[in-house]
Amino acid sequence: MTDAPQGERLQKVLARVGFGSRRACEELIADGLVTVNGEVAELGRRVDPEVDRVAVDGIPIGVRPGLVHFLLNKPAGVVTTASDTHGRTTVVELVPAEPRVFPVGRLDLDTEGLLLLTNDGDLAQRIAHPSHGLEKEYLAEVDGEPSRAAVRRLREGVDLADGRTAPAKASLLSPNLVRLTIHEGRNRQVRRMLEEVGHPVRRLIRVRIGPIADPRLAPGRWRPLGNGELRALERALADPA
Ligand code: URA
Repeated sequence: MTDAPQGERLQKVLARVGFGSRRACEELIADGLVTVNGEVAELGRRVDPEVDRVAVDGIPIGVRPGLVHFLLNKPAGVVTTASDTHGRTTVVELVPAEPRVFPVGRLDLDTEGLLLLTNDGDLAQRIAHPSHGLEKEYLAEVDGEPSRAAVRRLREGVDLADGRTAPAKASLLSPNLVRLTIHEGRNRQVRRMLEEVGHPVRRLIRVRIGPIADPRLAPGRWRPLGNGELRALERALADPA
């Protein structure tokens, strides 16, 4: 009796996570673009997707069986924790209960907008870590009309109790509406920055996490991230702006 070949054919794994037909995936392998555990893979290679680290063009394919990645549009009044002792609705109650997922970073109780939830601890840690500098874009409705000088302060850095904020992207979209893009993740950072320049936030919505945006996702709704989005996220983490 011969031993059964171990694992799944590499081109089949790549095709499943969205790199095109098996034929196209064979070409990626033949072109030397695919690595397994850091080494260029040969055609005919078999892998265990649970164990082996597969990357295409240096970017991990990321989707291991059993891992899920959800994008939620969090409504105001929903708390970003896995369980709330005050009986309030939590973000994990808005997505499927199985497999168990946890939020990546947090949005304040009253902040709305995009939040990732996953059981992929490795990806979550890299997204949340400030060293990766993943951009997060917010729309803030504020009190008063920020002057040009106020917008410039937001861009250049604002002195907060926990230190000066890093340079950010800021623009005034209409008299009370600021678009602010930051890549740090300090507690209540956007609210504190705007408060500090004299324009407290009335409503705050996160509209983008790195390459992930979805203006059509309604509040309270969620969807899985697509393979292309996961790859874009990996690329953004590998190559911060
Ligand atoms: N900044 C804030 O002030 N609140 C959030 O929820 C997210 C970023």
